[in-house]
Amino acid sequence: MILVTGGTGLVGSHLLYHLTQENDTIRAIYRTEKKKEHVKKIFSYYTDNIEKLFTKIEWVKADITEVPSLIPVFKNITTVYHCAALVSFNPKDYRQMRQVNIEGTANMINLSIDGNVDEFCFVSSIAAVGSSINEKIIDEENEWSDEDNNSGYSITKYGAEMEVWRGSQEGLNVVIINPGIILGSGFWNEGSGKLFTKINNGLKFYTEGITGFVGVKDVVKAMTSLINSDVKNERFILVSENKSFKDILVAIADGLHKKRPYIKIGEITTGILWRIDWLLTLLTRKEALLTKNSAKSSHTKSFYSSKKIEKETGFEFELIDNVINSVCEKFNA
Ligand SMILES: NC(=O)c1ccc[n+]([C@@H]2O[C@H](COP(=O)([O-])OP(=O)(O)OC[C@H]3O[C@@H](n4cnc5c(N)ncnc54)[C@H](OP(=O)(O)O)[C@@H]3O)[C@@H](O)[C@H]2O)c1
Repeated sequence: MILVTGGTGLVGSHLLYHLTQENDTIRAIYRTEKKKEHVKKIFSYYTDNIEKLFTKIEWVKADITEVPSLIPVFKNITTVYHCAALVSFNPKDYRQMRQVNIEGTANMINLSIDGNVDEFCFVSSIAAVGSSINEKIIDEENEWSDEDNNSGYSITKYGAEMEVWRGSQEGLNVVIINPGIILGSGFWNEGSGKLFTKINNGLKFYTEGITGFVGVKDVVKAMTSLINSDVKNERFILVSENKSFKDILVAIADGLHKKRPYIKIGEITTGILWRIDWLLTLLTRKEALLTKNSAKSSHTKSFYSSKKIEKETGFEFELIDNVINSVCEKFNA
């Protein structure tokens, strides 16, 4: 049987829909009823047959940081898709990210080895591939350096990959994917979903940083096709196109028929803004809106190559403008 972690999140919920097409039962872990129910909303983007497909999922309440809760989860599991993670650029979440992303992944690996799981697919990130000098194109061979100014999220995703590679040394068949920023429907107040909400609410500002983007359907397609192939113990960057935040925001504005953002924010301004925000969070104990790392990455120009998966498996990515248009269609659905 297949096991999915993070099934109540962006990647995991779209993956669960795909898996219910081809399997009679899939096991997935969840933490709260509310998030579990939200998965039905994601299914509704694809089908009218929500209940029939949703009942194929055997939900088990578990937390990847709590081993006892995971033990029943691993009964009769042959394939694991490990999507669960804590994604945050707020330094205050670093400790918890270490626990969820590194220790949680170590738990998943240890239980997969104990349970003789056949294959393990880990959703990492381009954040774990390291940065480049002089805007050189980054591929899977790029060298990670502890000396770079890595975010806590990057460090913990890299640490999680180390646990996955340890698993492969101990005999587990693993495949790692390293997606760029994932665009998909249904999580409008989290991650990249916030970009759609902010544009819809009239966001005026943009920055000119560049990074890799990919659609969630391509992420799901890559995961399932890699698991169903002979590929093992490899990692693959998943980036359809490298684009500027400006281009992405403009495409979202056009897709939602809203005004394009027109005020460019430079590095000096974001440098001031994150410091003010940091001070305000100290004084008011409110959530940080802009952190040092997110301010920096909004200006960084990073270019990623997905030639490896294209060459080795013939994978074809959907263009980002098409991804954005179909996500925009779902925004008001
Ligand atoms: N979104 C992106 O742009 C992006 C880009 C590159 C890589 N990734 C990677 O892709 C994966 C999926 O990301 P996503 O965007 O789908 O994230 P997401 O929407 O934030 O979902 C995270 C999932 O992890 C679960 N989770 C968190 N802590 C857990 C714990 N202690 N025990 C069990 N489950 C836990 C969450 O459960 P609850 O619903 O209960 O909170 C949720 O299902 C992550 O590994 C992320 O690092 C994401």
